[in-house]
Amino acid sequence: MKIAIIGGTGSIGKGFALRWGQKHEVVIGSREQEKARAKAAEYTYILKDRGLNANIKGELNAIAASDADVVVLAIRYTKVASILEQINPVLNKQVVISVVVPMEKDVCMIYPGSIPLEVPASDSEDYKSDYFCYVTPSAGSAAQEIASLLPKGVELVSAFQNVPAAKLSNLDIHLDYDIGVCGNSMYSKNIVFDLIRNIDSMRPIDIGPIDASSMIECLTPLLLNIAVRNKMRDVGIKFIG
Ligand SMILES: NC(=O)c1ccc[n+]([C@@H]2O[C@H](COP(=O)([O-])OP(=O)(O)OC[C@H]3O[C@@H](n4cnc5c(N)ncnc54)[C@H](OP(=O)(O)O)[C@@H]3O)[C@@H](O)[C@H]2O)c1
Repeated sequence: MKIAIIGGTGSIGKGFALRWGQKHEVVIGSREQEKARAKAAEYTYILKDRGLNANIKGELNAIAASDADVVVLAIRYTKVASILEQINPVLNKQVVISVVVPMEKDVCMIYPGSIPLEVPASDSEDYKSDYFCYVTPSAGSAAQEIASLLPKGVELVSAFQNVPAAKLSNLDIHLDYDIGVCGNSMYSKNIVFDLIRNIDSMRPIDIGPIDASSMIECLTPLLLNIAVRNKMRDVGIKFIG
């Protein structure tokens, strides 16, 4: 399978490239061709140094996306619209994966209209610091917004929001995580389920249609708050049942 990772030069993109580059044809997408090629060479070196297969190239985002089977949007929420303007002209048959989380830090302790929390003055700064919250897009979630911006007929699957980049790119770490998946096409979701199963011992969990994506996007600030407040690192999710 040919997988384009848009923003593959960044934190989470590196992890996908290292995991999938062993089994698939991965193209790192970037706004700069030289940066994409340098990162592809770096990731190839990491894999080859461990005696692993590596099939990783670097290209401009639109070239990477043009003949891919799967396109991963590994970019921040605020950059999505500008990136889609670049790659939409080449999207037609690809399955697009959104890992995007609209999230802010330290801004939402008190929502407009809510009753202010009575936190003692001496304690208030500590209470507010390092607090992460989900910033709900007007469409309901990042995935619903992205789906509305994609060309007609291009299927979007939302997944991987709850995997920390540091763990994904550390090949020594065992990834016994559950990954929630949302999408409207079972055919596209099955492709993503297989990509999840390709990564160590990750397990795909079907959450429902794209309209359910806010539920999995919200997991990221939840997990970060748990990590910060309870002195845990790279917290993940495992469903028991
Ligand atoms: N980090 C995590 O642990 C994690 C986990 C799960 C999901 N996510 C989600 O994954 C997405 C990417 O996160 P990340 O931490 O990997 O991001 P990141 O490293 O900050 O950025 C990813 C890439 O975005 C591109 N970029 C930077 N500024 C841009 C701009 N102004 N316009 C267009 N592209 C720009 C850069 O690629 P070029 O400069 O090469 O173009 C950069 O390498 C986010 O939506 C995040 O919510 C992250």
